[in-house]
Amino acid sequence: MSEEAGRKKRVLSGMQPSGELHLGNYLGALRQWVEMQDEYDCFFCIVDYHALTGDSEPETLPSRTIDMAVSLLAAGLDPEKCTLFVQSDVPEHTELAWLFNAVTPVGDLERMTQYKDKSSRVESIPAGLLNYPILQAADILIYRADAVPVGEDQRQHLELTREIARKWNARYGEYFPETEAIIPKVVGRIKGLDGDAKMSKSLDNTVGILAEPDEVWARVRTAVTDPQRVRRDDPGRPEVCNVFALHGHFGSSEQLADIDAQCRSASRGCVDCKRILADNIVESFAPMRERAAELRAHPERLREILRTGAEKARTVAKETLAETRRRMGIDWSSALD
Ligand code: TRP
Ligand code: SF4
Repeated sequence: MSEEAGRKKRVLSGMQPSGELHLGNYLGALRQWVEMQDEYDCFFCIVDYHALTGDSEPETLPSRTIDMAVSLLAAGLDPEKCTLFVQSDVPEHTELAWLFNAVTPVGDLERMTQYKDKSSRVESIPAGLLNYPILQAADILIYRADAVPVGEDQRQHLELTREIARKWNARYGEYFPETEAIIPKVVGRIKGLDGDAKMSKSLDNTVGILAEPDEVWARVRTAVTDPQRVRRDDPGRPEVCNVFALHGHFGSSEQLADIDAQCRSASRGCVDCKRILADNIVESFAPMRERAAELRAHPERLREILRTGAEKARTVAKETLAETRRRMGIDWSSALD
């Protein structure tokens, strides 16, 4: 095989530094990132500059960034296999974002659903909220990534990233790829323990991937089940029960068949059913809790991982930025050559 054909495809994805990850992040995104590490040349970025466009809370941003790094590593990102780094450690991202400002139509930015949604909730709209997708495009294109694993809600930002690449290429010559989105086939939308909204930390309807066993149980116990199963001896309907949907991510097929049958015949109560779910979650997250504890005990290791990650990322980022600047004429010394 030629070197070209044998080269791994490059992937980049980013996550906001929201602190410890929860079940929904794990099932919806992280599990996929972990699986991709072998097949792709992966860059994973904790996007702290993006976090400044929301309620940035400077007091907690450093610890949320570190908690996110711990969660990602605990969940199975392996610094030997992928490049994990913090966005602000690679200042080339923000510099490229400025260069992309030159080719991005304001109208495109104003059409973004996320922008319309977020800007409608504030009195004075920070420019950063509008320009958010330009920085995201820079995160991706600075590595000239072939693909980006993201949730459905990011599809539009990826489309804009491709548009920015096309516009830039048309003006300055073919250079950036049209990066593909990889949207997980999932599992549908992962509903929170309230059985209604999407799992999210701010809605408090989920459980952290590093939660202790008693906390997992305390959260799972509150989960909403089939509303028609009021009394213990009412038969239940697994197909409408969100607890059953969650079992689907953890139980074996025999266990699922058993849960289904016991529910329909009302021979197992919901509390016992949730117990099984909590136990399965605790068991499957146990190795993550261990890895997290290990990392917490060695902060110098974490520092080294993030420092090395940023260094590796910068090697690529610097090269792309230099070429981009050159082609855009930000290169006065060439006039003296
Ligand atoms: N906007 C993404 C989100 O909210 C986070 C993000 C920033 C990102 N830069 C990225 C995702 C680059 C993928 C690629 O989820
Ligand atoms: Fe849901 Fe389990 Fe209760 Fe059936 S027994 S309604 S699957 S929680």
